[in-house]
Amino acid sequence: MSPFSMPLYTDKDCDLSLIQNGVVALIGYGSQGRSHALNLKDSGVNVVVGLRADSSTRAQAQSDGFKVMEPAIAAAQADVVMMLTPDENQPEIYRDHLAANIKQGAVLGFAHGLAIHYGLLKPRADLDVFMVAPKAIGPAVRAEYVAGRGPAGLIAIHQNASGRARDLALSYAAALGCGRTGIFETSFKIECEGDLFGEQAVLCGPLPRLITAAYETLVEAGYPPEIAYFECVHEVKLVVDLIYARGIAGMRDMISNTAEFGAYRAEERIIPPSVKAAMKTILDEIQSGAFVKDFLGGNKEGLARLPDLRVRAAAHPMEDVGAAIRKLVLKSAS
Ligand SMILES: NC(=O)c1ccc[n+]([C@@H]2O[C@H](COP(=O)([O-])OP(=O)(O)OC[C@H]3O[C@@H](n4cnc5c(N)ncnc54)[C@H](OP(=O)(O)O)[C@@H]3O)[C@@H](O)[C@H]2O)c1
Repeated sequence: MSPFSMPLYTDKDCDLSLIQNGVVALIGYGSQGRSHALNLKDSGVNVVVGLRADSSTRAQAQSDGFKVMEPAIAAAQADVVMMLTPDENQPEIYRDHLAANIKQGAVLGFAHGLAIHYGLLKPRADLDVFMVAPKAIGPAVRAEYVAGRGPAGLIAIHQNASGRARDLALSYAAALGCGRTGIFETSFKIECEGDLFGEQAVLCGPLPRLITAAYETLVEAGYPPEIAYFECVHEVKLVVDLIYARGIAGMRDMISNTAEFGAYRAEERIIPPSVKAAMKTILDEIQSGAFVKDFLGGNKEGLARLPDLRVRAAAHPMEDVGAAIRKLVLKSAS
């Protein structure tokens, strides 16, 4: 019996020839786009890339050997059009370049559910609409494939006009390398809300904030910044790698008794159980659409604040000592 609650597929469940027999247009050649393009090409798929005329990624796509054209022209010749631009640009790209040009009965694909789940774009009824979301950042999608493995992946179906949307999604996921590891089937809603929640509750907000607060505590108490950086930032990777490979209990098996005892003694004082009430509020805001409204609003007001927020975060003194330590440890400037 499967230990999983979701359907799980591997390469044996996927017909790679479905995606090999058509043309795939990738709109966007960034973090995900380049890895999708290279993996699909190496899996024998005919890939074209759709980019605006002045795109900063055009030269890279061309030097990787792809035909690059305007998004509308790429879409018009494709059987699968994969949307790999930033989520916030997808509604206007669909409206202005794709809606009138995608072939009748073709597939519109996504690597994240945000635009569809929140109704930011409404695909034509004749299209199949699927999601293939590798569970890895772009460069790792490529590195896993090259290593003969593949990232785990999620698929979901929003529209199944042809009746073949699931088979096509599985075929695309296999071409990416996900079928070597495992492809779970889910919905746009679950992928999207779960992904946003993980980013906001753990990965991209609270974890860096915890690290920063700990760094500041040591430095304010007179410890050298280098020590604070090693203990509170650099070594996060060691613990995360153990959790990735062995789980939390497995990580604790590998650390010293001193570290483990200190962990049990301190954990609830640093992060009290009440943190779950705040997490529930974050989840409610994601589920209700309040987060996306704040992010995009009528005029993308939230998004407009991003450059200032980014500059303020990057001005933290920890970034300077971090750059020097990474240069020392990684033997390359970062
Ligand atoms: N980053 C990840 O590892 C990751 C992980 C899982 C899922 N995803 C999902 O994958 C999708 C792509 O994310 P990403 O991080 O790979 O995006 P990204 O790197 O920011 O995408 C940049 C690419 O999109 C192009 N682009 C931007 N605006 C455009 C426009 N208006 N018209 C045409 N091309 C445009 C850029 O070219 P220009 O030079 O013209 O701007 C560039 O080629 C998103 O749905 C995201 O949620 C990403």
